[in-house]
Amino acid sequence: MTLLEKINETCAFLAQKGIKNPEFGLILGSGLGELAKEVENSIVLDYADIPNWGRSTVIGHAGKLVYGELSGRKVLALQGRFHFYEGNPLEVVTFPVRIMKSLGCEGIVVTNAAGGIGYGPGTLMVISDHINMTGQNPLIGENVDDFGPRFPDMSNAYTADYRETALTVAEKIGITLDEGVYLGVTGPCYETPAEIRAFQTLGADAVGMSTVPEVIVAAHSGLKVLGISAITNHAAGFQSELNHNEVVATTERIKENFKMLIKAILSEL
Ligand code: HPA
Repeated sequence: MTLLEKINETCAFLAQKGIKNPEFGLILGSGLGELAKEVENSIVLDYADIPNWGRSTVIGHAGKLVYGELSGRKVLALQGRFHFYEGNPLEVVTFPVRIMKSLGCEGIVVTNAAGGIGYGPGTLMVISDHINMTGQNPLIGENVDDFGPRFPDMSNAYTADYRETALTVAEKIGITLDEGVYLGVTGPCYETPAEIRAFQTLGADAVGMSTVPEVIVAAHSGLKVLGISAITNHAAGFQSELNHNEVVATTERIKENFKMLIKAILSEL
């Protein structure tokens, strides 16, 4: 099956389940998936039941597709995303973004846990731009012209209006929201201190193992993007050692603010 045939098959399946005309796609990162529980009038599907869909294997990623209303907007939320480091081809990692576009979403809200370069644990950071250090690109291969051009512009991948709305809303509800550049790697190992020093020189404020593939596919297809990182730890070299437990513990600590912020932003997008 071609990619387009797979997309059509999955869209037809979702439509038959009652999933129609979402306004926004939500991609919820490590420990941040709880927001999907607040979706009202929801239709919830297990990833395993959806044709052409990947599998989520990371602790803190549930593996459910949730459709319904959040802050009065129709959303299609991924509770648990797919990572390249899990062995998923990038076509699988980014497939949900293609579905969001095909079902008619105007934009996506992408969230992740990230290591801070400069910013410390507990910081919420709206992503102004990214640096792709994965050595990969999800658009390699035959271009799907129905989605976008062979050589897509990435100058405005992170939509300025959405970012301004996010910053304004955060200030209004009293949540500190910083802004910065997200550098994407494949993982699964954390970085070395030397890599982090190099990334700092390159202009990165946060480093993480997701988001970049999804945002490339979104930008290609003209989807608007809001990206928000939850900084869960100081990146390597800025603290003595790193582990996933700290990442989970920090997301646990900040998730209430995070959920409040996303909900408040959604109603204003
Ligand atoms: N590096 C890469 N990915 C991450 C980190 C990190 O320090 N923290 C959370 N995700």
